[in-house]
Amino acid sequence: MPLATADIQLVRELVAQRSGNQLSTAQGYLIEARLQPVAQRAGLPNVELLIAELRRSKTAKLQDSVTEAMTINETSFFRDQHPFEALRESILPKLIESRRIGKQLSIWCAASSCGQEPYSIAMLLKEHFPQLANWKMRIVATDLSDEMLRKSADGVYNQFEVNRGLPAKLLMKYFDRCGAYWQLKAEVRRMVEFRKLNLTHPWHMSSYDIVFLRNVLIYFDAATKAEIIGRVHRVLRPDGFLFLGGGESILDPNLPFRREKIAKTVCYRPL
Ligand SMILES: C[S@@+](CC[C@H](N)C(=O)[O-])C[C@H]1O[C@@H](n2cnc3c(N)ncnc32)[C@H](O)[C@@H]1O
Repeated sequence: MPLATADIQLVRELVAQRSGNQLSTAQGYLIEARLQPVAQRAGLPNVELLIAELRRSKTAKLQDSVTEAMTINETSFFRDQHPFEALRESILPKLIESRRIGKQLSIWCAASSCGQEPYSIAMLLKEHFPQLANWKMRIVATDLSDEMLRKSADGVYNQFEVNRGLPAKLLMKYFDRCGAYWQLKAEVRRMVEFRKLNLTHPWHMSSYDIVFLRNVLIYFDAATKAEIIGRVHRVLRPDGFLFLGGGESILDPNLPFRREKIAKTVCYRPL
């Protein structure tokens, strides 16, 4: 039997309140499919009873599990390719030149899912910018989901995941085979600091030269998106670079960013 409208509504409201993600009303079947494992883990026989429990108990742990199960974690190594080419060919050489005295660079991957995005950046730095070895270099990766952060820290990926976007040469060089899985070597894992951060809750971050905020704004409503972009502006250095996902853009002229085309990609520069 399909989920009742009131149950779907409860899940939509909970997910919007805890993560800003807007689920469409047509997602009843998706809610059912994604919450079945959560119900099982909670020792409940089905999703209806899980939702009844949500209504009754309001425990943060259960609410978080439901929210995390409903967010989209789709990602891949070197996703969309062109932003990484722009980093290598233009942005990093420019920043390395302008930061050559202080020798400090920092990159923030917000909404980093299970780690492929920050690890792609880390491998790119290792491959193409050996001169950064004696710099104070930070790659900070954050996500809402504890499960994604755990997976990121382990750096263990299955064959399907390493087949998506990762050149064979980098797989051979930076991963160790563990049975059917591949683990990223510690020398790359160590380059990334993973932290829990909900973009829709108050947060404090230091300043960054580059922010990757890709493929997460699409799940927010316009006001939340504008609020987050405004807060990212406050942590991005004046000559910094903001990357959004391929289907995302800043169209609101009141937001303090200008669009800049760099090679085959687009990024945003603070005004
Ligand atoms: C589609 S993935 C994008 C991953 C990566 N940035 C990329 O482009 O490949 C979206 C990620 O955003 C995270 N997310 C969703 N809402 C969030 C929020 N309010 N705060 C922080 N992360 C959030 C999800 O947990 C998920 O890992």
